[in-house]
Parts: sequence; structure tokens; C-alpha cells
Amino acid sequence: MRRSFTEAEIKKYLKANLTAEKYRHTLGVTALAVQLAGRYGAGVNRAKTAGLLHDAGKDLAKNRRYLKFVKLDRYEKEIKALRHNKLGETIARRVFKIKDRAVLSAIRKHSTADKNMGVLDKIIYIADAAERNRKFKGVQGIRKAAGEDLDRGFIAALTKKIEFILKKGKKIHPRSIEAWNRYIR
Ligand SMILES: [Fe+2]
Ligand SMILES: [Fe+2]
Repeated sequence: MRRSFTEAEIKKYLKANLTAEKYRHTLGVTALAVQLAGRYGAGVNRAKTAGLLHDAGKDLAKNRRYLKFVKLDRYEKEIKALRHNKLGETIARRVFKIKDRAVLSAIRKHSTADKNMGVLDKIIYIADAAERNRKFKGVQGIRKAAGEDLDRGFIAALTKKIEFILKKGKKIHPRSIEAWNRYIR
């Protein structure tokens, strides 16, 4: 079996497969994920791998060949932006031979969230929303909440995300609603 990939090899792949902006975002997500993993005991290496690979499937055109391995639901078929979660998970499995369930789960759940969110799932979800390159109003509040309490940080990030979708008048994936109903207090 092939040895696991180094961080440098993963970064090289990402540089070639992501826009400069998405690559910068990826490094921001990874940095915040590592920081939160240290704080909440999720495993720094896991957080690094999940952070680096969370958007690996972002470029649909470049990754079309992996789509056949992915089972999309009707929302993911309809809303193109939602395809890259499962696509990213597939790339993590097939290209980078990742078997760690927590890492694969965090990649798969990073943009819609889910009714079952583990510690690493929450960390990657928060990091995706609030990494250092994100500038929207309220991002500081998410960072602050996440530093104090992981669940509060997650709910703050989920709230912002759902607000964005509502303001844009777009459809919300049922998984996001399920996450909301499960975790809101
Ligand atoms: Fe994403
Ligand atoms: Fe992302």
C-alpha cells in the first residue's frame, strides 16, 4: 500500500486544482481548524488534513471524472455548489487514500452541516465560515464564540450561513435544517 501523502504533496495538488483565492481560503481554514483542534482536542493532524482537503472538489470541471463515484441527492443535483462536499470526500478517499472516518465526515459535512456533527465536523464547519480571509459582518462574533465554546461557535456559523441563503432567496438543503433543529437551543 502507498504511504500516506505529505502535507507538501497535498498542497501541490491543491495549488494545481484550486483558484488562487480558494487556495488562500483553504490555508485559512486549515490554520483555524488546527487552532480549534488544539483547543478542543480533536487531533491537530486530522484537522490539518480535513482543512486542506475540504474544498478539494471545488472545481467541478476538473474533477468530473470522480462524479461517477458520488451519489448525489436531488438538492445536490440541483444546486451545483453543493456537489463539492461529496466530491471532496471522494477525492480524499481515492486520490489521497484517506480512511479516517472523522476526516472524511468533516469534508462531507462542511458546507451543509448535518444533524450529527462530531467535534471535527464542527471545527471544519466553523473554520470554513470564519477563517482569516472571511470579511463579512459578524465573522468576528463567530471567531469569538468558537474560541469560548465549540457548540456556540458552530451555531453562530450555522446561523450566518442560513441567513445568507435566506437573504439570497435560495433553497436550503434539508441537512442544514436538520442541523439547525438538532443544535439550536
Ligand atoms: Fe466548500
Ligand atoms: Fe471552503
